[in-house]
Amino acid sequence: MCGIIGYTGTKPVCPILINGLRALEYRGYDSAGVALSGRALTTVKRAGRISVLEEALAAGAAGEEYQGATCGIAHTRWATHGAPTDANAHPHATDRLALVHNGIIENDRVLRSELEAAGYVFNSETDTEAAAKLIDSIYAQNPDPIAALRAATERLEGAYALAVVFADRPKQIYAIRRDNPLIAAATAEGAFLASDIPALLPHTCDYYRPDEDEVVVLDTEGAAPSVRFFGRDGEINHPVCTVDWNVEQAERGGYDHFMRKELGEGPDGVRRTLTPLVHDGLPLFNLPLLDRLCDMRSLRIVACGTAMHAGLMGRYYLERLARMPVTVEIASEFRYRSPILSADEPILLLSQSGETADTLAALRLARANGIPTAAIVNVIGSSVAREADAVLATHAGPEIAVASTKAYTTQAAMMALLAVATAWHRGYLTEDQAREMTAALTDRLPVALEQTIALEDQMIEQAERLAPAQHAFYIGRGPDYDGSVEGALKLKEISYIHSEAYAAGELKHGTISLITEGTPVVALSTDTTTAAKMASNMREVRARGGYVLVICTEATKGEVASCADACIVLPESDPILAPICGVLTEHMIAYHTARVLGCDIDKPRNLAKSVTVE
Ligand code: AGP
Repeated sequence: MCGIIGYTGTKPVCPILINGLRALEYRGYDSAGVALSGRALTTVKRAGRISVLEEALAAGAAGEEYQGATCGIAHTRWATHGAPTDANAHPHATDRLALVHNGIIENDRVLRSELEAAGYVFNSETDTEAAAKLIDSIYAQNPDPIAALRAATERLEGAYALAVVFADRPKQIYAIRRDNPLIAAATAEGAFLASDIPALLPHTCDYYRPDEDEVVVLDTEGAAPSVRFFGRDGEINHPVCTVDWNVEQAERGGYDHFMRKELGEGPDGVRRTLTPLVHDGLPLFNLPLLDRLCDMRSLRIVACGTAMHAGLMGRYYLERLARMPVTVEIASEFRYRSPILSADEPILLLSQSGETADTLAALRLARANGIPTAAIVNVIGSSVAREADAVLATHAGPEIAVASTKAYTTQAAMMALLAVATAWHRGYLTEDQAREMTAALTDRLPVALEQTIALEDQMIEQAERLAPAQHAFYIGRGPDYDGSVEGALKLKEISYIHSEAYAAGELKHGTISLITEGTPVVALSTDTTTAAKMASNMREVRARGGYVLVICTEATKGEVASCADACIVLPESDPILAPICGVLTEHMIAYHTARVLGCDIDKPRNLAKSVTVE
């Protein structure tokens, strides 16, 4: 996944592009570049972080356009085709145009062969260069930008958001998208386009979301800067979207890392997410699917990564409270295994960004088969949100750090409330019980999360113990196994320590052979029904020299604390609230472990915030 930003207007474009790239750096950060459209179309691109590009521009790499240009496009890359090198960085340019691209062109080899046969010489390993040269070859025959983009995208296979500047139209920018996000805006100072909202926030909170295969035209010729949309049948007017974030929310707010800021925002995210869904003390989703859900035979949850782990927690809640059979699937597996689908088994998709290609593809497969779909997303207006039959919005606020934390917390809380509603509708909870559990989620959970964060010194102490490890294991049972899976992912993705989660009862069936002197094992034990068994598993680990940290509650402490080398006691014992507090503890341990190791916490190597490629 990559980040695109474009501007044309009255102000010097370079600072706007560079600042926009910084706001999008979480989307990819292995190389970056700009194309400045002024007296001449000038492209400067460098491998490495945006600071490398900035230094090159300040050193004169763009000549007079650096100060003078007021129109341009820029790109920060997460490499898919070709290593992060200057040549593979975007923009890709010809004499006639410069182009930036987010996504994957799947038929790039065929196009490259055709274009080489027509005399084009390729200078990179990227799929994007084929798109640039294809548009160039069409534009050379008919210098009509809209026609050229439309004709070219009829040849392109795959997913893309493209932005193009043409040398002979120095004040205009053209763009088009398919299966990748792109938004546009216009203010008195200029017209903008970007891959995501944070890049526009310093300029405006109002933006437009073009539909797929519409050509977007940014222009400043004429009365005022404008952004227009052209479909096959002519110009299209889109309603304005307004984002309820502000720049400060999207910025670090004084924290060392976005991740630490976002960990602290989880409690308020739960409050903002659940409050609108509670009326007269009861969960009211106003969701046709929910009514159907209550009569459904079963539910299938499909997602990726941390969102899928939130789905695992959702399965625990729905099965324990509502006795609803639930399966949880990895989106990239689901869509390629010819799943057996049934109209009386709705599909619930979870996605923070709402742009994950695997999840979006799973949603489309479900809809193509007439399966009712609902989505829990954190970005309103995202592709998943717009294409699902029903949307449950989490309000965690912008999540910039690649490692998802507050989004998980709010997704899990949403799943818990959905389970309470479903259990009540299906008669497994009385109205009083539903009211009581709803209050626990809306009132006590945020407080418990804040109290968990207040245990930070204990997490730091354990992080310092964990940091030197090469391998770490997470074990749990039931909801605590589901939580362990998330804890292991968080640690490995930001600290690069190899960490795996195991169902605690499974250790003896092979994995325990990996436990040697000092091997750290994080045991999650918030469930009283399995605490005694967890104690046995912890003793088995310690008998082989392993170091056991147990994360438990007042209700399970008596069983497990004495079987551990260290113990963190959570502030909540409620079996609905405690598992989420347990995961937050793991998130914070992962954060501090990565901090102790000096890792690039917000932008871990090889990763991107939203994986918009399959
Ligand atoms: C989580 O920390 C990772 N960044 C990753 O697993 C992420 O959860 C996954 O890519 C799904 O993203 P989504 O929620 O935006 O769909």
